[in-house]
Amino acid sequence: MLSSIKSRIIIFYMIVLFVALSALGLLLYFSLSSIVYNSIDSSLLSRAKALATLVSEDNKETEFNFSEEIMWEYSSPKARIFFQIRRPDGTTIEKSASLGNSELSFLTGENQTRYETVFLDGVPSRLINYHALEDIDGKDILTGRDHRIIIQCAEDIRNRINVLKTYKIVLFLAILAVMLISASGGFLIARKALAPVKEISRTVSAISESNLSQRISVEAVPEELRMLASSFNHTFDSLERSFNRQKQFTADASHELRTPLAVIMSQSEVILRKNRSSQEYKDALAAVMDAAKIMSDMVRKLLHLARLTTDKLELNISRINIDEIIHESVRLLTSLADQKGVSITVSIPGKFIIPGDRAALLELFVNIIDNAIKYNVPSGKIDISVKKENDFTITRIKDTGIGIPEKDLGKVFDRFYRVDNSRSKEIRSSGLGLSICDEIVRLHGGRIEIKSRARTGTSVSVYLMGN
Ligand SMILES: Nc1ncnc2c1ncn2[C@@H]1O[C@H](COP(=O)(O)OP(=O)(O)OP(=O)(O)O)[C@@H](O)[C@H]1O
Ligand SMILES: [Mg+2]
Repeated sequence: MLSSIKSRIIIFYMIVLFVALSALGLLLYFSLSSIVYNSIDSSLLSRAKALATLVSEDNKETEFNFSEEIMWEYSSPKARIFFQIRRPDGTTIEKSASLGNSELSFLTGENQTRYETVFLDGVPSRLINYHALEDIDGKDILTGRDHRIIIQCAEDIRNRINVLKTYKIVLFLAILAVMLISASGGFLIARKALAPVKEISRTVSAISESNLSQRISVEAVPEELRMLASSFNHTFDSLERSFNRQKQFTADASHELRTPLAVIMSQSEVILRKNRSSQEYKDALAAVMDAAKIMSDMVRKLLHLARLTTDKLELNISRINIDEIIHESVRLLTSLADQKGVSITVSIPGKFIIPGDRAALLELFVNIIDNAIKYNVPSGKIDISVKKENDFTITRIKDTGIGIPEKDLGKVFDRFYRVDNSRSKEIRSSGLGLSICDEIVRLHGGRIEIKSRARTGTSVSVYLMGN
């Protein structure tokens, strides 16, 4: 339960509220209690002072002069007001009738006015020990008698204590009520604030493989959550794109593999229908092998492409000499170029060293030069040159081939895309070479630019970081 944001907000909110209200409650309670006690104490002091006026002193005796006016209050036990006048040794000079047989508690040896709360016959009472004649400093030198008197005056404070108790209960109940109201308010606010999050998660869970085009409506969510909603939408956009690409890719791959498979099946079927001459068997097997080679080449490229596009692929980066890698690519393709009578010229001024994966870069240049040979005219030419530009080393492979029509230029990097099926038919081609090149260059932080004119030639520029 504590893991939910809602309960965390409410609990935090309740703790803060409880601490604040309790502090306020305690402050109010103590202020009120001090006001109450101060008023009792000042009334007791006035009473004690009034009683002090009734005490008279001569050299021999301390006398208490009864005054009806003052005394009537203390006469009945019901009045719950008491006094007792003592000498410092505790002996009583006079006490009120309301005390009956009881005595007010007294400590000898004190010489300062003091207030205390005591229990008189089990009833809470406030008591003042008022030191009258305090300014007379002790004993009479002649008589040796102590002149000081202590006027004790007490009052039943049951009612006041009850008021304070009631106040305490009311305060406690008020805090409880405020907390309950706040908790339910907090709960409602938290629920309302979090409702859009629920709505977002409902939409997100509704989006499935078959329903990838659904999106969270950004306008419908509060401003604070719009960024979250649009991030979700962006993620779904790219998920949908990659899912569609994947679907397209699977469809294309199956389609591409179907042609050589159909060749293998039809050749085998036809040849098995009746007995054939050994030449016929040889021809059929050669056709089957050709189709199998096409399939194997395609599968190899597909696997390679899949490996290049996984995020886990790690390049084996080392210092690559462009000169060396271009010459190696040309060497691998010499026999193909010779067959077609295509001449290749390499002009590399100086040394170009870039960081890269040797095997991947070899594959990159072999694929591009392979295209330049395959789509060249008989006795055509290929010029390979290298130059530096800003942070890049640019390798340009320029051919005098059939070129690529402008409308197809943007698509040649798509998987299985071939400009013209009729012209690709006699050339063994799977339409995967440039997709692989694009991935390799992307992994090296570079790019490929193609310029071409139909029937004139093509120029492929490979930008690689470093020089
Ligand atoms: N230098 C070029 N001149 C003319 N057309 C080209 C050239 N390079 C590529 N193309 C066109 O672009 C298409 C895609 O090239 P890509 O290298 O990806 O595939 P491919 O050469 O058909 O097959 P693969 O390289 O897999 O054997 C080619 O089919 C071709 O039509
Ligand atoms: Mg190619």
